[in-house]
Amino acid sequence: MRSHYCGALRAAHEGETVTLCGWVQRRRDHGGVIFLDVRDRTGFVQVVFDPDTEESFALADRMRSEYVIQLTGRVRMRPEGTRNPEMPTGDVEVLGKTLTLLNSSATPPFVLDEYSDAGEDVRLRYRYLDLRRPEMQARLALRSKISRVIRNTLEEAGCIDVETPILTRATPEGARDYLVPSRTHPGEFFALPQSPQLFKQLLMISGLDRYYQIAKCFRDEDLRADRQPEFTQVDIELSFADEETVMALGETLVKRLFEEVLEVSLPTFPRMTWEEAMRRYGSDKPDLRNPLELVDVADLMAEVDFKVFSGPAKDPGGRVAALRAPGGAALSRKVIDDYTRFVGIYGAKGLAYIKVNSLAEGLEGLQSPIIKFLPEAVVRAVLDRVGAEDGDLVFFGADQTRVVNESLGALRLKLGQDLNLVDEAAWAPLWVVAFPMFEKDRSGAFTPLHHPFTAPEGSPDSLKADPGAALSRAYDLVLNGYELGGGSIRIHDLAMQRAVLEILGLDEAEAQARFGFFLDALAYGAPPHGGIAFGLDRIVMLMSGTSAIRDVIAFPKTQTAACLMTAAPSTVDLAQLQELSLRSTAAPRQASEQSDSPSVDNA
Ligand code: AMO
Ligand code: AMP
Repeated sequence: MRSHYCGALRAAHEGETVTLCGWVQRRRDHGGVIFLDVRDRTGFVQVVFDPDTEESFALADRMRSEYVIQLTGRVRMRPEGTRNPEMPTGDVEVLGKTLTLLNSSATPPFVLDEYSDAGEDVRLRYRYLDLRRPEMQARLALRSKISRVIRNTLEEAGCIDVETPILTRATPEGARDYLVPSRTHPGEFFALPQSPQLFKQLLMISGLDRYYQIAKCFRDEDLRADRQPEFTQVDIELSFADEETVMALGETLVKRLFEEVLEVSLPTFPRMTWEEAMRRYGSDKPDLRNPLELVDVADLMAEVDFKVFSGPAKDPGGRVAALRAPGGAALSRKVIDDYTRFVGIYGAKGLAYIKVNSLAEGLEGLQSPIIKFLPEAVVRAVLDRVGAEDGDLVFFGADQTRVVNESLGALRLKLGQDLNLVDEAAWAPLWVVAFPMFEKDRSGAFTPLHHPFTAPEGSPDSLKADPGAALSRAYDLVLNGYELGGGSIRIHDLAMQRAVLEILGLDEAEAQARFGFFLDALAYGAPPHGGIAFGLDRIVMLMSGTSAIRDVIAFPKTQTAACLMTAAPSTVDLAQLQELSLRSTAAPRQASEQSDSPSVDNA
């Protein structure tokens, strides 16, 4: 139907007769001539109709936003002075001869070239219109290119693409499962995979040697800007591989993506132990573009007369840490109060601070609600340790280690932004290694930091002797403070796998009931193996420079895990429930609660 794409026309096409198809972006009436900006996937071009072509002119006059047209015309240079260097097609225009209306359009609910004032709910409800915007099309095209480079790289590395089931059993990755009721097995359910973890390990046991898959994963968990209930992993597994082999392939993959897609060459990725990351940054995914660091001061605070500090300082599960904000002495009381409220979100009971106006003036040169509780020598030692200079402010957190890490870790990120300390254009990759094998949940039971198939360092006996001290052979790839991927060397020894499940509180019968198929497989010559999975959506999000994962998914879900466009999830009729042997105990939703499922009032 067309000879050229709209966005492809250049001065070199001058004099050619072209046929274009696309949408009317804008119609302008300029005293006797009509301009149509015509858009397709590649961009848009200006088309002029003058009254000489009477019929087309009359039709052009009736065109409205988002009408679909086909036109034929001659490419000509725009008159000097009307060229637009901002637009790729800005030197030329098409003098329209014939015009065909292929379809009309209702008035769009928002203007497609400037979305800033359209709320995201409207954009999501009319996602097919939102996706017409060049910015969104560019992101989807980028995603496609990224997938292509990933496939090429992994195929070249000898990995075979294998699809694994979507209707399956629960895979424990720490989130809730999405369940699908079985009609043929009344009262029984499939779970959608949280990841292909067990299947890819089974493929290694099958002798596939090297596997990859761009796989859909499903997790019913609290959503954030970088999380979706349905997302995509670049899933990789290698046999006869150790940490170095897997990490080398992961690093090659990410480097090649940045080179081929963004023309950015990343340095060798540094490595940091989990312990060091938590100590210096309060986070297992530190953004290394931010220069601020947490500094331990518990040893200085153990004997002070200020319980808020001395308590956690003496508690083995506690932490007292300082965070220096360069130039922070200029922060107002109100701003400090705001920060105090901010750390409160993470459970901090307060936010002590020392303003350093002038070090030369000793205690007189400091301003703080807490120095009255601290001996001068302690104050000096603290300021010395954090490297405080005149004009700085030093914040303090004292509490259970988890609270201090989460609150000061978050404050560190916020200060980095507020004080403009982060180079937004930089890339800071990092491998985090030497994770603890287990952490304790609220009830005091051990849970795996990764998943229960991750290999620990050491033997089954040493693991059972002190599970809390065990490290795992896991690694995470972090980029600019986002967890881009994570993986591990796996347990391939049945006795070790049983030991881990036992520590997790699964007795043999329960382990057999949940993972029997997998435990059986481990008994049949499982090779040593390991792998990694990257979050494809997060990769695309970072590479396209947006901070919302929804922006790189064609049809994403909202914060409440709903689709505004299709109004899913939705109720089903009674007959369907009965067929599935189900009965709903939920009260029917009131119309006022159905903000997620807009009524259809489309004109
Ligand atoms: P993990 O749970 O760390 O590991 O997931 C791997 C990567 O997937 C991405 N990711 C998500 N992206 C968007 N929305 C979500 N809800 C979401 N959850 C995870 C992250 C994360 O780094 N089977 C193991 C991998 C392995 O051991 O090989 C796994 O799933 O970028
Ligand atoms: P208070 O003695 O409770 O008035 O606290 C004195 C100062 O210590 C105030 O600036 C509080 O914000 C701060 N503070 C209180 N609890 C903590 C804590 N757990 N960690 C850090 N600072 C705290």
